[in-house]
Amino acid sequence: MTTSILPTYARADLEFVSGKGSWLIEASGSQFLDFASGIAVNSLGHSHPELVSVIKSQAEKLWHVSNLYQIPEQRALADKLVKNSFADTVFFTNSGTESCELAVKMTRKYWFEKGYPNKFEIITIEGSFHGRSSAGIAATASEKMTKGFGPLLPGFINIPWNDHSAIENSITDKTAAILIEPIQGEGGIRPIPEQCLQGLRKTCDEKGILLILDEVQCGFGRTGKLFAHEWSEIEPDIMMVAKGIGGGFPLGAVMAKETAAIGMTAGTHGSTYGGNPLGCAVGLKVMDIISNPNFLNDVNHKAKRFYNGLQELLKKNTSVFEEVRGKGLMIGLKCKVQNTDFVNACYANNLLTVPAGDNVVRLLPPLTVSDTEIDVALEKLESAMTIFSK
Ligand SMILES: Cc1ncc(COP(=O)(O)O)c(C=O)c1O
Repeated sequence: MTTSILPTYARADLEFVSGKGSWLIEASGSQFLDFASGIAVNSLGHSHPELVSVIKSQAEKLWHVSNLYQIPEQRALADKLVKNSFADTVFFTNSGTESCELAVKMTRKYWFEKGYPNKFEIITIEGSFHGRSSAGIAATASEKMTKGFGPLLPGFINIPWNDHSAIENSITDKTAAILIEPIQGEGGIRPIPEQCLQGLRKTCDEKGILLILDEVQCGFGRTGKLFAHEWSEIEPDIMMVAKGIGGGFPLGAVMAKETAAIGMTAGTHGSTYGGNPLGCAVGLKVMDIISNPNFLNDVNHKAKRFYNGLQELLKKNTSVFEEVRGKGLMIGLKCKVQNTDFVNACYANNLLTVPAGDNVVRLLPPLTVSDTEIDVALEKLESAMTIFSK
């Protein structure tokens, strides 16, 4: 079929016209339980009444003015993020990729200002994903992302997964930072063990280099803490976020310690849309809801229920999948069958899931998912598995 859309996506034959809570609905009325959440974006589900109300009222007041002027909604969201995190300062973007671009620029400028312009190399980890821009694919470094797009932006050293000594051995006079996802999303829901993140923080402190965390997918309550690194009780110097922060509105940010952001003075970076009143009004409401400890406790409670149910399924279906992994409501099923076949089997059962690297199927329900919906998802997963166990 010819199409007017650049054919860069392999889309499923599903077309949704509306959504409510954890459900997406086709024109035919067919309902799908959404455990993809637009790839960890719809953190509060679809048509959340408070988000609908805030976007309506802000839309009637002001959408966009540009960063030529003061933006009170942006200030309020930045204040809230700073109050609830390690960060002292925030720059708003419109996506995770843009956050990656700024994290790289901020790092390079930090060392330039300190008098070390040759310190520009950033160590990244095999299987990571940091976006599709020139810096993003160079940081991601997989053949799939980079083939045909060379020459790549220089300054990235990609290290094998789970090899702390390889990281240590790669640090040279040129090393500026280590960039890592606390839980690899696209790479197949691979959590970095808490002691490893602590070890990386220690290495960065000892060597005097920056630690950049990419919490684009695992941030904003997804793991049961506001930010995933909180589980290891360490703090990054710079953090990229996006996805869940806007609950579906395109919004991202770079959050940083003042010390790491020293180079980013007036005129060094900018964005036409980043931090617009509409996006920030929505982001502020999302933050209000997600940063509430009761909300996060509830995420952990639901995650436990889901995880226990999945372990039961694993016991019964050892030929279909071999491991349940992840944290909070960022869960991966490591498959024995082809992961994309399993995603299709879920579609056939009106359940949306997402394939990832390492032959994993991602389960990323809205953080507002109910216990009953988790039970329904478990039933649908079990039914999808029967296709393979015959
Ligand atoms: C960890 C991580 N970083 C960066 C990105 C890029 O974000 P975006 O697609 O919003 O540009 C993604 C997107 O999946 C991601 O998962």
